[in-house]
Amino acid sequence: MSARVIIGAQWGDEGKGKFADIFSADARVIARYQGGANAGHTIKVGDREIILHLIPSGILREDAKCAIGNGVVLDPEVFLAEIDSLAAEGIDVSPRRLAISPKAHIIMPYHKNLDKAREARRGSRKIGTTGRGIGPCYEDKACRIGIRAGDLRRPELLKSKIEAALVEKNALLRDLYKFEPMDAEAVLEELLKLAPRILPYIQNTDAELRAALDKGENILLEGAQGVHLDIDHGTYPYVTSSNTVAGGATCGTSLPPSAIDEVVGIAKAYTTRVGGGPFPTELLDDTGRYLQAKGHEYGATTGRPRRCGWLDAVVLRESARLNGIDRFALTKLDVLANLPRLQICSAYELDGERLDYMPQDEGDLARVKPVYEFLPGFEDDISGCEKYEDLPEEAKNYIARIEELAGVPVDWISTGPKRDETIYRGVRQE
Ligand code: GDP
Ligand code: IMO
Ligand code: MG
Repeated sequence: MSARVIIGAQWGDEGKGKFADIFSADARVIARYQGGANAGHTIKVGDREIILHLIPSGILREDAKCAIGNGVVLDPEVFLAEIDSLAAEGIDVSPRRLAISPKAHIIMPYHKNLDKAREARRGSRKIGTTGRGIGPCYEDKACRIGIRAGDLRRPELLKSKIEAALVEKNALLRDLYKFEPMDAEAVLEELLKLAPRILPYIQNTDAELRAALDKGENILLEGAQGVHLDIDHGTYPYVTSSNTVAGGATCGTSLPPSAIDEVVGIAKAYTTRVGGGPFPTELLDDTGRYLQAKGHEYGATTGRPRRCGWLDAVVLRESARLNGIDRFALTKLDVLANLPRLQICSAYELDGERLDYMPQDEGDLARVKPVYEFLPGFEDDISGCEKYEDLPEEAKNYIARIEELAGVPVDWISTGPKRDETIYRGVRQE
């Protein structure tokens, strides 16, 4: 095996952190390739719960090297805070184990202010961003005025870039959004204070990944967010600003497409979404509240309650096609216990027509009616179950139906947040 990509098959928070940690056990390099500190990936080991926003989930595996790829947008303050909290837990986060690509873009304080200002101005049409400055940072990257990690080595370049950026940003902040303008000198000074701690981490991640590839070592590429938050293929404009699909893993790390030999989709056994945007199977009733409470569906980054709904097989089918998903890990099956009846959305209806795919025009997904299949629920508490044979028949049927509808085998079933609360039923050897 060379590179395996993990992607979230829905709208994020599917349990990528748990599986990235599991797959990291036999990986030599683990890299994040897009997104930034909008992500919140939870790993539970024993009684310890660790939430990572920027650092790859492989950091808990001592033999692995972690890389923050060029496609990531890096918030220096969050990065250093994360390092400090991991170090306090006794985890080695030295530059020997962790690297940042010099090509990764830096999230600046003005990106965060613009993110908040834009959201406030959108009012009821707001995207519900995490407020972490993600969109404005990617805008600057595409506009070719961004600041990259490698620039931290060159204070003069930094100075001129910040000054130039603030001419535009301050006009927007002050005149349009009625926010306080920012002082270039102060912004530069703050960044230069953080730079000495960050510089040793800025390394040639491309070379590291290529060396691993050449030696045939395992590489894990850890996606953030979910397929339907992808800037191109997601529920635009209610999306994030990066390519969350598996294809993003190559641009975001410099690995060629031929390096990827497996795509694992992480899918929650029901559906959740944080922020605005269409969500055909959303439950605004007691069942939705039940899933939210039992699944502890509160954002790992912002603490916002996650919207909850039935599993949407149309969404999973689309994910399978967009990413070439080889196998699924189905998470949080334990949360569905005790519901008398389970529902899976197998198609949509739009203007009297039946669709077995997601409509592509803006606004149409908000108008579809889900077509449901009803399946018997299961009563047994399956929390922590490690053997497929021990699952109730109804749970097995539910999994089988997902496989049929999405056209992808479910090779892992997760029955709790911890590493060993996992059933592996794949035929291929790890
Ligand atoms: P990520 O962003 O995809 O890594 O997911 P999050 O960490 O944001 O959210 C997933 C949450 O579900 C975390 O709190 C996990 O500890 C938890 N979790 C993961 N798998 C399972 C599972 O199978 N059962 C239960 N009950 N919780 C799980
Ligand atoms: P992980 O990696 C769930 C959502 C936000 C908002 C939209 C745009 O933990 O699965 P942004 O701040 O990116 O501009 O916000 O995307 N969002 C996530 N939802 N999980 C995430 O990450 C998310 N990252 C961003 O709620 O709707
Ligand atoms: Mg999350």
